[in-house]
Amino acid sequence: MSRTPNASNAAGIGLRLQHIAEVAATRPPVAWLEIHPENFIANPHAAELLQDLATAYPISVHSVGVSIGSAGGVDRRHLQRVKALIDRIDPFLVSGHLAWSTHEGDYLNDLLPLPYDRESLGILARHVDEVQQALGRPYHVENPSNYLGFGGSTMTEVEFLTELVARTGCRLLCDVSNIHVSGANLGYDPYAYVDGLPAEAIGELHLGGFVIEDEDGAAPAQVLIDTHSRPIDDHAWDLHAHALRRFGPRPTLIEWDNELPSFSTLLGEAARAEAVAAGVFAESMRHAG
Ligand SMILES: [Fe+2]
Repeated sequence: MSRTPNASNAAGIGLRLQHIAEVAATRPPVAWLEIHPENFIANPHAAELLQDLATAYPISVHSVGVSIGSAGGVDRRHLQRVKALIDRIDPFLVSGHLAWSTHEGDYLNDLLPLPYDRESLGILARHVDEVQQALGRPYHVENPSNYLGFGGSTMTEVEFLTELVARTGCRLLCDVSNIHVSGANLGYDPYAYVDGLPAEAIGELHLGGFVIEDEDGAAPAQVLIDTHSRPIDDHAWDLHAHALRRFGPRPTLIEWDNELPSFSTLLGEAARAEAVAAGVFAESMRHAG
């Protein structure tokens, strides 16, 4: 039986290799941990530490290498390696991105976007079916951060995700910061985006930091880049509260991958996420009472 977070609004922290020895030695008070299987598949020592940690913490697995959006198909060998790790640590949730991350067999660092049309939907649905069948459990698909819209898209991202859920029975990982970043870059209302998502399909929320870069002479004048290298922005905290009002309590991840701070800083961000959730539910109790 996999361990699950004690509370449905518990905040977790992304466990990166730089922190794993400290976390294994000190067992900090965090409700759950999220890992990228790609960090552990070729690192037997880290995988052993992780297996031990999985007896103490609920684990969520977030793959950055299972490429459900690649027209060339899912990398089955990689999928089998992810499955083998999942079998060892029995996570409470498995997720990945709505994007492709391989191209002609090469892994790309950046996650690339897809046009939202019927053809992409058919490809994605087949690949999600394949992943869910191979893993024997539901797969949570995450909304990406976008920098450019596709001229050829015939559906909004929300329509696309909703249709993907209906076709495959998959679930969604809602990255709140990505919605803020994409909304600012593409000029849409992030609150309306959250309102459009199928609430019952949301299994986890993400919050990550971004940077703002100036673009000389281009419109929009600024572009938000989803770097996971900063504290969570106030706009994202506000949108997070809105998402919790709309979806109800959900496990929420502090996602920090670059320019990693101390683990105690991450614990502070996780505590803030739980405080935001507590505020939302106190408010909803008042309204109900
Ligand atoms: Fe994310």
